[in-house]
Amino acid sequence: MNPDIQIIASANGAIGIDAVWENLAHGIRALDAVEAAARVVEDNVDDHSVGTGGLPNLDGIVELDASIMDGDNRAAGAVAALRGYRHPISVARAVLERLPHVLIVGDGAARFAQEIGAEAGELLTEEAEKIWSEGLTAAPGGLAGTILERAKALTTDPERAVGTVNFLARDLNGSLASAVSTSGWAWKWPGRAGDSPIPGAGNYCDSRFGSAACTGYGELALRTSTARTIVNRLAEGASPLEAGRSALLDLASLDEPTENMIMHVVVLSKDGEHAALSTQRGALYAWRDGNSKSTEVLERTYVSLEGGH
Ligand code: GLY
Repeated sequence: MNPDIQIIASANGAIGIDAVWENLAHGIRALDAVEAAARVVEDNVDDHSVGTGGLPNLDGIVELDASIMDGDNRAAGAVAALRGYRHPISVARAVLERLPHVLIVGDGAARFAQEIGAEAGELLTEEAEKIWSEGLTAAPGGLAGTILERAKALTTDPERAVGTVNFLARDLNGSLASAVSTSGWAWKWPGRAGDSPIPGAGNYCDSRFGSAACTGYGELALRTSTARTIVNRLAEGASPLEAGRSALLDLASLDEPTENMIMHVVVLSKDGEHAALSTQRGALYAWRDGNSKSTEVLERTYVSLEGGH
């Protein structure tokens, strides 16, 4: 097995790595691998942060964001606030391949999904609806202002509380690709787009240098272009660990309460060196390379933002 092939993902992506690993080992493109891996997680109804089973917006409607990027030419495709389609990552892939655009949103994204024959489906499961309605009932105050509190109350697992799935892959040719898919923040404002569908914020990939993707409180990544910042650092010669650390430390100057500073990143260099970091202790990620016997779920490097920067 070629040790240079590799996939790194958020922890909830382990099932996606397992599903695509043999194909990646047999030579499929990184771009095909990350799309196929994301589709597996989009179909996991037990994952309330992605695809079917994702938690809905303030109105009780599931809205999905996704993006995919080809590191060989930095072609990107993305959808935001897409309703009613099972695989936003594949709609994003079709945007990349079939439209002269990068990002389409809302009704326009749904219309495009219909035109390309994307699979429609009911995204709201009974369990997700129950969590949503209990969260509304428990809302301590006004609706919009308490999104963070409710998401945090939902679960103590930081990957799920502000969950998303992302994948970075390197194929046998040394090409890189990245994919991110999410139902975004539970109880989010209808039409809200997070960092996941925004190249440079939640997802960035350049086969010359490396790739990076985020999970967590997307507005932080939107404000600081986290994924692109990491790849810029890789281009300057930083290691994945140094690049990720510097992008997370940059969040400390945003003047946000410490409890809002939820950000996890995965980083993969063009040479196949990887890192995974988090502003929360104990956060996990999933990883496999050509030397591994199976997908490993490992702890991310913790980066403390206390003390400011
Ligand atoms: N990072 C995912 C989101 O904020 O929607």
